[in-house]
Amino acid sequence: SNTKHKAFPEHFLWGGSTSAYQVEGAWNEGGKGPSVQDVKQLPEGTSDFKVAADHYHHYQEDVALMAEMGFKSYRFSIAWTRIVPDGDGAINEEGIQFYQNLIDELLKHQIEPVVTVYHFDLPAALEEKGGWDNRETIDAFVRYCDILFDRFGDKVKYWQTINEQNMMILSGAAIGTGSDSMQKTYQQNHHMLVAQAKAMKHCHDKLAEAKIGPAPNISITYPKTNKPEDIQAAQCFNALRNWLYLDMAVYGRYNHQAWAILEANDALPTFEPGDEEVLKAGKADFIAFNYYTSGTVEAYPVGEATTDEKTADQQKGQGIPGFFRQVPHGDLEKTEFGWEIDPIGLRITANEIYSRYALPLMITENGLGGRDTFTEDGKVHDDYRIHYLREHIEQMQLAISDGVELFGYHPWSAIDLISTHEGFRKRYGFIYVNRSDFDLKDLSRIRKDSFYWYKDVIASNGENL
Ligand code: BG6
Repeated sequence: SNTKHKAFPEHFLWGGSTSAYQVEGAWNEGGKGPSVQDVKQLPEGTSDFKVAADHYHHYQEDVALMAEMGFKSYRFSIAWTRIVPDGDGAINEEGIQFYQNLIDELLKHQIEPVVTVYHFDLPAALEEKGGWDNRETIDAFVRYCDILFDRFGDKVKYWQTINEQNMMILSGAAIGTGSDSMQKTYQQNHHMLVAQAKAMKHCHDKLAEAKIGPAPNISITYPKTNKPEDIQAAQCFNALRNWLYLDMAVYGRYNHQAWAILEANDALPTFEPGDEEVLKAGKADFIAFNYYTSGTVEAYPVGEATTDEKTADQQKGQGIPGFFRQVPHGDLEKTEFGWEIDPIGLRITANEIYSRYALPLMITENGLGGRDTFTEDGKVHDDYRIHYLREHIEQMQLAISDGVELFGYHPWSAIDLISTHEGFRKRYGFIYVNRSDFDLKDLSRIRKDSFYWYKDVIASNGENL
């Protein structure tokens, strides 16, 4: 690149990220109700979420380690089922207290709390009543958000609504929602969008100083070749997967191209009176996004697939005949879990988002899942993670040099936790947690090599990579 490097801004939020059900454990303690994650069918050979990293009991030690790394901010999620165990009933004061304690602990160390309201863990009791199919879930969500704004609004300035709504919709059932038709899926999506818009409006009405935004996974999708057909396919996939969510959070309307794809597939959501105004009234102050890798698609001519294949592709978000089909990139290296690695894609993605919306950006997830080993010297040599993060931070700096207003970086994950589908063996943290999928060992915390490296990155404000 021939762009001149600019320095990271002075108050850049260097931090790390987790989510409640993946890190906390104590799944049935402190008055917590079950979430969809606690009751779901687990993939074979994979731990449940009952103990996780046991952060619920270790939060002071964990925050101290984050402070030692020099974290300026910590992005975590609040478990809806700790605050309102059945989703829409009584408030659980013990749950409120846990997060008060966590937030106070962070502030004691000058770490800015960055809170996600909902990260894949819908209360199981709401799922039983139809989950996001049911419009009453919108009211339950908004009420839950109001409780958070009322109770934590004096201490929390940065809020995110729904983590990776776009991934929930594209890959459905695995993370707690899911349905058997595309229309139903996008109806659920519509309900979540309405819920998010209301929550953003309430946040602004209640808290003058607070900033709130969505937290989708935004990754640029490339065309497989430079054939216009493939380029058009990529445009469609970007519209459905990325811009639908950001156009809504920023402009309060459906992206036209995404809408056309839904229409062509008989998947248009039904609006209730008032929805249009609600969507217009919810405005994001910033855009948080998760980035792990880019995507690649090619044209998917109608008539190429059998009906069964079409349905399967559609259900998995793999492809929609007449629009696009996801394919491997071909030239990118992969992690040991098969995820393509594309640091330049982060620069492209950040520029693309900023050109469209001109709002400040914050990265809420980015990282490498690997099978770390706790070696005989009492260490974890995770040079592959350092390499991945370094390359992404370099591209982040180039995006800033391009003129993108980027104000925070929260690698996934601050500390080891359970992956969404691949158990405890797939680790992301700077801090190793001594347990395996089925042996809880002593849950002790060990600083990985990446811990010391990141500490230096933060201390030098991104200069020493
Ligand atoms: C994001 C999620 O999709 O990616 C996290 O917001 C998740 O919850 C992370 O853990 C990494 O994915 P995985 O499947 O490797 O855990």
